[in-house]
Amino acid sequence: MRVLVTGGAGFIGANFVHWTRRHKPDVEITVLDALTYASDGSSLDGADVELVKGDVADAALVDRLVGASDLVVHFAAETHNDNSLADPSPFLQANVVGTFVLLEAVRKHGVPLHHVSTDEVYGDLELDDPARFTEDSPYDPSSPYSATKAASDLLVRAWVRSFGITATLSNCSNNYGPYQHVEKFIPRQITNVLDGSAPKLYGDGLNVRDWIHVDDHNSAVWTIVEKGRSGETYLIGADGEETNKTVVQAILRALGQGENAYEHVTDRAGHDRRYAIDSSKLRTELGWTPAYVDFASGLRATIDWYRENEAWWRPQKAATEQKYAATQTVLDPAATD
Ligand code: NAD
Ligand code: TYD
Repeated sequence: MRVLVTGGAGFIGANFVHWTRRHKPDVEITVLDALTYASDGSSLDGADVELVKGDVADAALVDRLVGASDLVVHFAAETHNDNSLADPSPFLQANVVGTFVLLEAVRKHGVPLHHVSTDEVYGDLELDDPARFTEDSPYDPSSPYSATKAASDLLVRAWVRSFGITATLSNCSNNYGPYQHVEKFIPRQITNVLDGSAPKLYGDGLNVRDWIHVDDHNSAVWTIVEKGRSGETYLIGADGEETNKTVVQAILRALGQGENAYEHVTDRAGHDRRYAIDSSKLRTELGWTPAYVDFASGLRATIDWYRENEAWWRPQKAATEQKYAATQTVLDPAATD
């Protein structure tokens, strides 16, 4: 089987490649990745893949690569909410136009597609709401990032219905694990502490994310590819709800610091309050279960990975913090704690 992995040099895509190598050694993998700031070719070291540098919106290139594949798994996207607030334009191009170009190629060549998306398409939940997102939750995205991911999901569904392509979709909660860019919440805080600076909590720090280890996300993607029904959406989650403050405190404790050695900074505009996933459909219909049921131990393993792989994250760190410093100021603790 020849699999085309778009965005395979990014966080989840690179982990998908390594997971596939470990569990399905006979699969031939081609990675198509634009190698943007968010990627790192070295994340694929030792993975034995063909790495093609290119844009998922490049119709001629995508046509050729899809025509030579038996399956496409589509991770490529602009993914950081804060960046989408600063400049939405690349998000429209990569996430909406890129997905459209890929859909036209899988339609032409009759190649099945798995489209990787996010729970952020459903908007957010109140902290005290017992509800969680399900496959029937209405789309209600808050940010330019989540709006473009919602648009890409709807394009995939329309191509299944109108043109009969074979495609499955998944919407997953927040991932953590190795090879995640230091702009994202957990790696930013781990590397801040390793650097001797304070973790930064947006606003009151009480926003909730539903954490899943990236290997569990990727095992779920393979389960859906192998057992899922075309046209269906499956929510992926591992019951990992935590406030941002709790996560920061766990990182500080694990690195031998006082658990209150964090700072509050300017909140994100339109900041979603809480995400929570009900993954019953995936578990009941397809028999998937997560391997990492203990968030605390998965987090400790991730901290160890960043401690041991400074050469991987160090080149990105200063520029990332400079970008944040231009928009975020430290808040008075009396106003937030
Ligand atoms: P990432 O930003 O780490 O990686 C994205 C990759 O896509 C990068 O390697 C980048 O170079 C590549 N890319 C960007 N634009 C491209 C283009 N036009 N053409 C080709 N390649 C391009 O993101 P990630 O966290 O690995 O997310 C991967 C996918 O999973 C995304 O579709 C995202 O929406 C989805 N997702 C992420 C999370 C999460 O917690 N990180 C949760 C649910 C879903
Ligand atoms: P992030 O990793 O950007 O993922 P998403 O926006 O897709 O959920 O952020 C996760 C949560 O952490 C979110 O509530 C915003 C918050 N956050 C901080 O409190 N401080 C930070 O430095 C960052 C990057 C995020």
